[in-house]
Amino acid sequence: MVTKKTIIVTGGAQGIGKCISQYLLEAGEQVAIADIDTEAAAECLQQFSRHAESLLFVKTDVSKETSVRECIASVVERFQRLDALINNAGIAQPHSGPVENLSLEKWQEIIQTNLTGCFLMSKHAIPHLRSCKGAIVNIASTRAFQSEKNTEAYSASKGGIVALTHALAISLGPDIRVNCISPGWIEVSAWRKLKLATRPQLREIDHLQHPGGRVGKPEDVACLVKYLISDAAEFITGENFIIDGGMSKKMIYL
Ligand SMILES: NC(=O)c1ccc[n+]([C@@H]2O[C@H](COP(=O)([O-])OP(=O)(O)OC[C@H]3O[C@@H](n4cnc5c(N)ncnc54)[C@H](O)[C@@H]3O)[C@@H](O)[C@H]2O)c1
Repeated sequence: MVTKKTIIVTGGAQGIGKCISQYLLEAGEQVAIADIDTEAAAECLQQFSRHAESLLFVKTDVSKETSVRECIASVVERFQRLDALINNAGIAQPHSGPVENLSLEKWQEIIQTNLTGCFLMSKHAIPHLRSCKGAIVNIASTRAFQSEKNTEAYSASKGGIVALTHALAISLGPDIRVNCISPGWIEVSAWRKLKLATRPQLREIDHLQHPGGRVGKPEDVACLVKYLISDAAEFITGENFIIDGGMSKKMIYL
């Protein structure tokens, strides 16, 4: 009998995370959506209702250790195992204004959610992942490696995730593999909760500036997540994978 994998997707109720949740459910796995937004999660529970037996929502704030501890306990209580953790939750707003005006509170909020959230979720998942020979996939960003102006907190949080990934891979191998995906521009407007969802408004130039010929889709990330947590990826750990249609490989002269 093939045992279904149990996978936690943080920030799994909207955007890239929602697509990852759907993709894994359709692949026959058990998914726990750990998200702070109950309204978005309620919509997911309804939309994914045919997978109800394989789906759990746990209201979770990844930036708070008590909430994280409760999340992991609820998932293990329901599914009796944990095979993979996808650390996707984040404040996905790169621009925070000129650094001279960036408040310490804002800086800490972004680091606490995007980076400390990955640490806390990983820390509490480790004992369960170890017993399943599991995997962690962290979602960073190409902004870990290149920047626009006024993106210090977000970029630092994502750079931290890339470094956390290789540190965890070394500490946790060979029992747990840890990898990272750094997406570029992924169009998520249609994957937000109903009251925020909009039809993507992309211009031809948005697509054509990508060497790959188009802006990214959440499915581009979801299928790599599925591969990285599969046995086919058992020799891959500590690595970062850029998915950006070649944008960060393009040389630009003005
Ligand atoms: N969309 C892109 O172009 C892009 C590019 C590179 C990296 N990323 C990264 O991918 C991830 C997902 O981005 P997205 O565009 O889908 O964002 P999104 O805003 O559409 O979704 C993020 C989800 O995370 C949840 N969340 C936020 N704070 C949380 C917290 N403290 N605890 C639990 N859940 C929380 C939100 O409720 C939401 O459901 C983020 O880490 C983002 O930085 C996105």
